[in-house]
Amino acid sequence: MKISLTGIKPTGNIHIGNYFGAIKPALALTEKFFGVYFVADLHALNSNPSPKELQQLIYEVAASWIAFGLDTEKAIFFRQSDIREIPELTTILSAVTPKGLMNRAHAYKAVLDKNAENGRDPDDGVNMGLYTYPILMAADILLYNSDVVPVGSDQKQHVEIARDIADNLNRIYGKTFKLPEGLIAEDVQSIPGTDGRKMSKSYNNTLPIFTSEKDLRKQVMRIVTDSTPPEEPKNPDGDNLFQIFKFFGSPERVEEVRQLYIHGGLAYGKLKEELYEKMLIAFGPARQRYFELMDNKSEIDVILATGAERARELGRPVLAKVRKSVGLDL
Ligand code: ADP
Ligand code: TRP
Repeated sequence: MKISLTGIKPTGNIHIGNYFGAIKPALALTEKFFGVYFVADLHALNSNPSPKELQQLIYEVAASWIAFGLDTEKAIFFRQSDIREIPELTTILSAVTPKGLMNRAHAYKAVLDKNAENGRDPDDGVNMGLYTYPILMAADILLYNSDVVPVGSDQKQHVEIARDIADNLNRIYGKTFKLPEGLIAEDVQSIPGTDGRKMSKSYNNTLPIFTSEKDLRKQVMRIVTDSTPPEEPKNPDGDNLFQIFKFFGSPERVEEVRQLYIHGGLAYGKLKEELYEKMLIAFGPARQRYFELMDNKSEIDVILATGAERARELGRPVLAKVRKSVGLDL
């Protein structure tokens, strides 16, 4: 079975945009591939979170994926920093990575551009972790001989860089790595936020999944709508609330509501109430599991430790092959 690998940055407060845009499609892949999923905590270090904050984020993201149904027996789920082979492979890959390749990486270039805009030193705020981010990511991908790497379009370049690095090593030392393919979710729709822009933590317009019922209700009520009175016709396709509702209503109910928009008779407040109820039902089991796990973090620790064992088993022979190829082992 082919291996599909993806790294998950430990960012908190998973929202419905993350779920429908990234998590659900990634979990669906376990039907066709052997799934390898990990929490990319070493990558998160680059922004220097406080140790407490980092710990909390790691637990939150791990609990979220388990709660959404990641099958931790079928797939492998672990924490990047538990894999001691990763830093070793990163060092070996650094030796075959041209500096120019890092100069062209988007994440680094974005910081340079921002600094230029603000008249600051080009490398202001750039640590080596950010600069060599793609090498660490290449090690993540190559250590397990991954076949496909499902990522959002923002990570496409990083997967291409991983391929380039693998190809460089193969050319210098003979065929060692399989070249991984990016699986880019181009057709994933962007889920709108409560203010109509793309839902994103950075815009403070999210509908978080693992929050209290009271807070969730408050966020749903915040969804911005126009001031058309209920009896007047409205355009469903231009309405943010309807766009969000579509993810939760049954096809029949969505069609009914669409007709209410078109012919008049829809009260936004009522639809928000219905949306809130439907969200609670849709995410009920996941929410329950999430809160259970967060109340019993040792269960998460056990899952991640078991996953790390299995991941190292998968990675060890690949690293051994690399060490042999480059002459570190005879
Ligand atoms: P945020 O924008 O809230 O910071 P991230 O950048 O951490 O979210 O995104 C994590 C994953 O969720 C990415 O794969 C991204 O493509 C997906 N995602 C985030 N927001 C949305 C959205 N509004 N619609 C669809 N997918 C989204
Ligand atoms: N860089 C990815 C992100 O920001 C996370 C990540 C780390 C990753 N290592 C990976 C993704 C390996 C895919 C494969 O979302």
